[in-house]
Amino acid sequence: MRVDVISIFPDYFAPLDLSLIGKARASGTLDLAVHDLRTWTHDVHRTVDDTPYGGGPGMVMRPEPWGAALDAVAPVPADGSPPHLLVPSPVGRRFTQAFAYELAAQPHLVFACGRYEGIDQRVLDHAATRMPVTEVSLGDYVLFGGEVAVIVILEAVTRLLPGVLGNAGSLDEESHAHGLLEAPVYTKPPAWRGHDVPAILRSGDHGRIARWRRDEALLRTANRRPDMLAALPPGTLDKRDVAT
Ligand code: ADE
Repeated sequence: MRVDVISIFPDYFAPLDLSLIGKARASGTLDLAVHDLRTWTHDVHRTVDDTPYGGGPGMVMRPEPWGAALDAVAPVPADGSPPHLLVPSPVGRRFTQAFAYELAAQPHLVFACGRYEGIDQRVLDHAATRMPVTEVSLGDYVLFGGEVAVIVILEAVTRLLPGVLGNAGSLDEESHAHGLLEAPVYTKPPAWRGHDVPAILRSGDHGRIARWRRDEALLRTANRRPDMLAALPPGTLDKRDVAT
């Protein structure tokens, strides 16, 4: 997958050289380039922002550097499909595991990181005449800018790319994979500070272990995220689930 990120703080993305994302980059699974928006400014101060029309606090990112940056980084191909432009913003579509799967299936993503009060709306409106544009929100809170959101989204998406996780089975069992939170996990030693590993996990009975995990996942989800339980598609729960 090809990913381009445009930001006035390219240094924010240094951690993307580390750990499994770093490995995915080194192997070519993730082809990531980070661009400094100020490359596309032409004044001595390398200005990217200005006061908002209509008044109000803060500054708004000017359209000209963004237009030039997107022309360079996300050109419209003569044939083939354009990249998908993602703009992190608290007004965007909520980022979820399902959304991460959608993005992981796409060949080219471009992230535009806004700062201050955001990017002049015309940048998004113009881009939308050429390519799919989605504003994306991590949650109902406000960050300084889109950079940290991009790191979060890229981590969630990269681990879904083929070959990135050593054991692809872990994708199937983790939280949010089937609309449920995952059951608790344990490792050695069997007893620690007066707390024992549940005996069933040491029983070797894989059928009962699977049932226990499912029950724990359902209980956790019911207690912590009743909204997720309510959103399960009809038919997701089996007869034995309903009995619990
Ligand atoms: N930028 C500022 N706040 C944000 C949020 N909640 N999600 C994504 N990008 C943001």
